[in-house]
Amino acid sequence: MKRLYIETVGCQMNMLDSEMVVASLRKEGYQLTSDPLQADVVLFNTCSVRQHAEDKIYSALGKLRRHKKQHPEKIIGVLGCMAQNHQRIVFERAPYVDLIVGPGQLQKVPELIAKVQAGEGPQEALSLGRKEGAVEEIKRSHESFDPLRDPEMRPTPFQAYLRIQIGCDKFCTYCIVPSVRGPEQGRPPQQILAEARTLADQGCLEITLVGQTVNSYRYREPGRTTRLSDLLYQLHEIDGLQRLKFVTNYPKDMTDDLLQAMRDLPKVSHYLHVPVQSGSNRMLERMKRGYTVEDYREMLGRIRDTVPDAAISSDFIVGFCGETEAEFEQSANLVRESRFKNCFIFKYSERPGTKGAELYQDDVPYDVKQRRNNDLLAIQTEIADEENQRFLGQTVEVLVEGPSKRAAKQYDDEGPMLQLTGRTMGDHIVVFQGNRRQIGQILPVAIFDCTPFTLIGEVVTVHAGPELLALRP
Ligand code: SAH
Ligand code: SF4
Ligand code: F3S
Repeated sequence: MKRLYIETVGCQMNMLDSEMVVASLRKEGYQLTSDPLQADVVLFNTCSVRQHAEDKIYSALGKLRRHKKQHPEKIIGVLGCMAQNHQRIVFERAPYVDLIVGPGQLQKVPELIAKVQAGEGPQEALSLGRKEGAVEEIKRSHESFDPLRDPEMRPTPFQAYLRIQIGCDKFCTYCIVPSVRGPEQGRPPQQILAEARTLADQGCLEITLVGQTVNSYRYREPGRTTRLSDLLYQLHEIDGLQRLKFVTNYPKDMTDDLLQAMRDLPKVSHYLHVPVQSGSNRMLERMKRGYTVEDYREMLGRIRDTVPDAAISSDFIVGFCGETEAEFEQSANLVRESRFKNCFIFKYSERPGTKGAELYQDDVPYDVKQRRNNDLLAIQTEIADEENQRFLGQTVEVLVEGPSKRAAKQYDDEGPMLQLTGRTMGDHIVVFQGNRRQIGQILPVAIFDCTPFTLIGEVVTVHAGPELLALRP
């Protein structure tokens, strides 16, 4: 038996890629292990979006150096966005790495591992990046790769990601993604639908469509263009599927057809992650986001007019080049007025090779970034608490995902009742006391308490009535 250890950082795109790498290696007889020291092959699927994500991987690689010296036959591979970004620098910083594979080349992983094992030395497979030919090359790689599936690698057996869009063409000035993931292209609807049917057959109740700007999805064929809203109508017909989500949205492409599909299709989750990045027009312009704060506000208004109960979440970058205290305050005000479900807040991290790094000074000191990060988080946490209190006394539909983190730690497998966790149609996290049989079901849960991050409830059961009670021994 050959053993594989894989560690994944970064976004949903990387989770999905790891699922497929594992599926392709299982075909070669590999089994997963959770201990890198027991593994024959150790893979890191990496992210380059912030410096911190890269540092983590180099530190994990450093921990394996001595082990690799003692066991030179073990294979260490670096996959994904940082592999594409750093290329041979990975070999320089960690000379015992055997494999560097970019995100558009992952279908080659089994073959490259075999080459290393055959004594052919270190291997690399990188995409052409954004050069001519990259679109075709990356598309071909995904055609063979994306249909591979590994239920064990999914968030849960009944939830899956499905890629509908590859790459990104937006070139926000701070962002490395367009240069590591290549040009934006929509996958053909036929492939997407076929994959969704396979997932439904495997018992998936929920599919999350993923793309860097998922609502910019377009697929053009002679005489017909398919948009995300059209895809949702088609996916909605698939038996077995109960919930459809999609991430991440680009504010400028939040068109009315999409919002109407969300309103009209009962399986579509009322959740929109649509990052704004800043509340200052000068910062948005420097970031080259292509919209103003007024445009974003107008979009929020349209979302709430069409889908009044939509839960909206956002991303902010604090301390981008030249951000003044007054400009940061504008972000704080936008958080105050927007009533987001939650926000992901990041300290600007300069990425060599981006326009931002070339044009602007990374001049906000680290401790100022840290303070702005804390301040924004504190404002959002208060809002999330208030918003969650609106659920008190309501009954929500929860897709039960499994034991909560607390239950997993406390009880292991003991006892009939344990704390379970799941999500509502609006992506709110709910915990309640339940039993294992409820995992994978969609259940009504009455909410009686909350924190800023969690709703706390109780499963609503049907009253048994005197007839049933009379049957008791
Ligand atoms: N495609 C998605 C986001 C991809 S990256 C979108 O456009 O919404 C996820 C988040 O990381 C971004 O929304 C942004 O907030 C943050 N991010 C990207 N580059 C960053 C950088 N250089 N420094 C700090 N945060 C960054
Ligand atoms: Fe990066 Fe902007 Fe593309 Fe998102 S839209 S991946 S932030 S370049
Ligand atoms: Fe990171 Fe690549 Fe995703 S850089 S955020 S893993 S697309």
